[in-house]
Amino acid sequence: MDDTTSPPRLTRLTFHGPLSEDRAARMIRRLSAHATSTAPKSVLDIGCGWGEFMLRLLEATPGATGVGIDLDEEDLARGRANAEARGLAERVRFVRESAVGTAQGPADLVLCFGASHALSDARPPEHTTAALHALRRLVTPGGRVVLGEGIWQRSPTPGELSAMWPGASPSEFHDLAGLVDLAIAAGFRPAWIETASNEEWEDFESAYQSDVEEWLAVHSDHPLTKETLDRVDRHRNMWLRGYRGVMGLAYLTLVPVS
Ligand SMILES: C[S@@+](CC[C@H](N)C(=O)[O-])C[C@H]1O[C@@H](n2cnc3c(N)ncnc32)[C@H](O)[C@@H]1O
Repeated sequence: MDDTTSPPRLTRLTFHGPLSEDRAARMIRRLSAHATSTAPKSVLDIGCGWGEFMLRLLEATPGATGVGIDLDEEDLARGRANAEARGLAERVRFVRESAVGTAQGPADLVLCFGASHALSDARPPEHTTAALHALRRLVTPGGRVVLGEGIWQRSPTPGELSAMWPGASPSEFHDLAGLVDLAIAAGFRPAWIETASNEEWEDFESAYQSDVEEWLAVHSDHPLTKETLDRVDRHRNMWLRGYRGVMGLAYLTLVPVS
């Protein structure tokens, strides 16, 4: 067996979160509505990864420009290559920097999908409030924020918590109503409230690992097999025994109150 190839990483994911093509298309139609004054001219993507949603938004909004910030150079490079391939390289920058105290923005549309922890050094659950205040500062008057944030769909049992990540606690997330209350307290009105479906979660969790699972099936004696197997088994167990159907992801489209 060829032992020079590393296991693949996230090659089956379109978005780095439980987001379907359909939901993304609906959100982009709403956010890029040219006929209204809310069509964004500038987009800032916090913890952008490879920024697929931002790229699609820019394709749907001629003339708009975007900046994505993240710490992961491999994901940023994937974003730059995708932008180049789609003729968007002149309209978007993928910048390696921390979002904590970022000097980027303000922007007409601020995206923060699964990356609220990137906006401050606060610990969960305070990081959500800190992120909302940072997002309020980063959005222009009349603009929009889209926040994709973890929530509890129901209270986790002690058994489920112990199967999740180390240190998982009932206070780590809010429920949907609590999250929306926090957004209002931070100076927003919630223009659209939606949550990832079970199907989106299953698609995401499966796509997150399926390339590595297939690699493992044909690399039983590779130098990286043992640690890779431990990693994917640990992650699948966290999902199936821990947070499946318990942790959710809310997508809030937020309008800053002037
Ligand atoms: C779950 S991923 C979401 C990526 C992207 N928003 C998406 O939905 O496809 C979270 C991202 O936050 C980034 N991140 C973590 N801490 C960060 C920080 N301090 N500043 C900027 N990005 C950060 C990670 O590198 C990762 O790409």
